[in-house]
Amino acid sequence: MSSAAFDLERVRTGLRTTLLGETLIWHPSLDSTQEELRRLAREGAQPGTVVVADTQKAGRGRRGRTWYDRPGQDLLFTVLMPPGMPREGLVAVALGAYLAEALAQETGLPVMTQWPNDLVIGPAKVGGVLTEVQGPTYLVGIGLNVKGQATEVAQTVGRAVTTLEAALGRPLSREDMLAACLNGLARAHAALVTADRSPVVRKFSEFDALRGKTVAITGPQGATTGQAMGIVASGALLVRTGPVVTEVTVADEIKVREA
Ligand code: BTN
Repeated sequence: MSSAAFDLERVRTGLRTTLLGETLIWHPSLDSTQEELRRLAREGAQPGTVVVADTQKAGRGRRGRTWYDRPGQDLLFTVLMPPGMPREGLVAVALGAYLAEALAQETGLPVMTQWPNDLVIGPAKVGGVLTEVQGPTYLVGIGLNVKGQATEVAQTVGRAVTTLEAALGRPLSREDMLAACLNGLARAHAALVTADRSPVVRKFSEFDALRGKTVAITGPQGATTGQAMGIVASGALLVRTGPVVTEVTVADEIKVREA
């Protein structure tokens, strides 16, 4: 087993769900796990299939950004979610909250979600989620900084970035983090296939890194600041600027960050 190889048996041992991860595929290198699983989905891959890569040559983030990785250190994977989740902005937003919960439970770290679905510890990003429609369902791609320091990533992307290990101060296994994430995504799926949106909104507010904070919103209409007030059932973020409350949706060309 090369140092970068991935122990799929260890992932299976940590799974507490039969919904996701029955088929687990690992590649040392791919263009992108999103593209690979999209190809497999077109060929009839079973729902719940997971593709993991040690490194990506064309890793993608939200809004067409490049997703940088550190081979052997980061966790890079995509899940073909089983159908049944609604076609709503809430889905992408909810996934961040359930993933934050799963990682917080697994590591004891205060992992939170920064709207729409960044994974953060304090002000620093530790992971990101890319949610793309695939036929009747979604491809959910996750990049998680697990090992080492990630200072080079922080320099490249120009924002505070951390890793789970740096925050915890002890080694962690990428395999255990993958199992935890899949368990969290399975809980998200179970919540999102029901009609009642209130448990999902409550879960988001439990792990909402921006709640009550002053945020800067930048969009085609310019820049402003306001106070983040949580989400509504559509997944839109409420931002209060003086007497005006703006609903920022995932589809808006608007960037939100802590001010
Ligand atoms: C973001 O925060 O912008 C989302 C980042 C998502 C990155 C992951 S890494 C695995 C999967 N494959 C990709 O090309 N992107 C996602």
